[in-house]
Amino acid sequence: MIQSLRGMNDILSEDYERFTYFINTATDVAQKYGFHFIETPLLEETALFKRSVGESSDIVGKEMYQFIDKGENDVCLRPEGTAGVVRAFIQKKLDRAGGAHRFFYHGSMFRYERPQKGRLRQFHQFGVESFGVNSVYEDATMIMMVSDILKRCGIDYRLQLNSLGDQNCMPQYRDSLVSFIESVEDEICKDCKRRKETNPIRVLDCKNAKCQSLYADAPKLINALCDECESDFNKLKQILDENDINYEINTNLVRGLDYYSKTAFEFVSENIGSQSAIAGGGRYDKLVEFLDGKPTPAVGFAMGIERLMELIVMPEVKREGYYIGAMDEEVVDLVVTLAHKKRKTDKVTIDYKAKNFKNHIKSADKVNAKYFCIIGSNEIENQTITIKDLEDKSEKNISIKDF
Ligand code: HAM
Repeated sequence: MIQSLRGMNDILSEDYERFTYFINTATDVAQKYGFHFIETPLLEETALFKRSVGESSDIVGKEMYQFIDKGENDVCLRPEGTAGVVRAFIQKKLDRAGGAHRFFYHGSMFRYERPQKGRLRQFHQFGVESFGVNSVYEDATMIMMVSDILKRCGIDYRLQLNSLGDQNCMPQYRDSLVSFIESVEDEICKDCKRRKETNPIRVLDCKNAKCQSLYADAPKLINALCDECESDFNKLKQILDENDINYEINTNLVRGLDYYSKTAFEFVSENIGSQSAIAGGGRYDKLVEFLDGKPTPAVGFAMGIERLMELIVMPEVKREGYYIGAMDEEVVDLVVTLAHKKRKTDKVTIDYKAKNFKNHIKSADKVNAKYFCIIGSNEIENQTITIKDLEDKSEKNISIKDF
């Protein structure tokens, strides 16, 4: 039997209900904050991700579903959503229009990672990108949005916060970090030796315990921020305090994608095992320019829907719509016609087979119908049907013509 590929799951039945509940809730929050839907292709030129996510990142270095298509183009399935949205933003010349442009999206992302609980090769993100707003209030707004979505889904979280500095303070910090890494180079892992050459700050989130203990003495970027980055970071903390959003400063939070500057954040959950990041994001003021657009400040986040689906507290399911059942084969045609009429306004479930009362009630319960009616020879003779409210158990008779 052919099975789905490793790390790629089907979403159906109860999972699908959680999935759509999450997307509907997150969409509602995003729209309340004035964001608009954007859909970008699943397949993009590989160069887009190499230039944005960065050649030194694990995503580009090891995890891309990359291939040459029939037209000899080097393409890849998107590993994340930001790069495609930035490309679309520039391609539609919105960078030249000025002003704020705010988007949200959801869809499949692909990373060839080692599958395990919470880590898939095809997974879904809900993401938000805001362009043209050079204000730390917008960074705070992003964090408030994630917090609102999680709260509405009944999910507890811990928020980790860091500042990655900008072009004024980062280069100097990088030099001091490289000097530090050189002082312990003999003892660090192979990956960190490579990171030192490609993107030194990535050593800070190395998972190797020995490296972590060595880096405890490394210089901290948070102590080396320039005045502007420091004052933005302080303002961000103040806004979060004023809005009752708890956070912890994690000076090792560097994020796995290269495009960030200034604010970086991650929401984690303690209830889903080792893959605990449920959302991540930050500011990326240089990316639009880097992809040949007009310099435009930007900030955004993405949430991992599969990880969240485990945590969502679903609201109580309410009975809804009608169940219409046929008692005799001859009335099935009439049931189909009545359902067709009623479906203009209501959800209707029917069965194409005649069944007895008990079996119809069972079926109506299974689909959580609110109203129940069955039609047999008596009903045809009287031209009336009885509608039973399965919630309050009341009944009323109406003529078939008025149904
Ligand atoms: P990211 O941190 O790579 O950021 O991914 C965001 C979220 O996607 C993670 O926090 C996690 O919940 C989920 N995720 C990532 N990889 C997997 C996986 N293999 N299986 C299941 N879930 C996963 C980004 O993708 C950035 N584009 C976020 C962003 C938007 N930054 C600015 N704007």
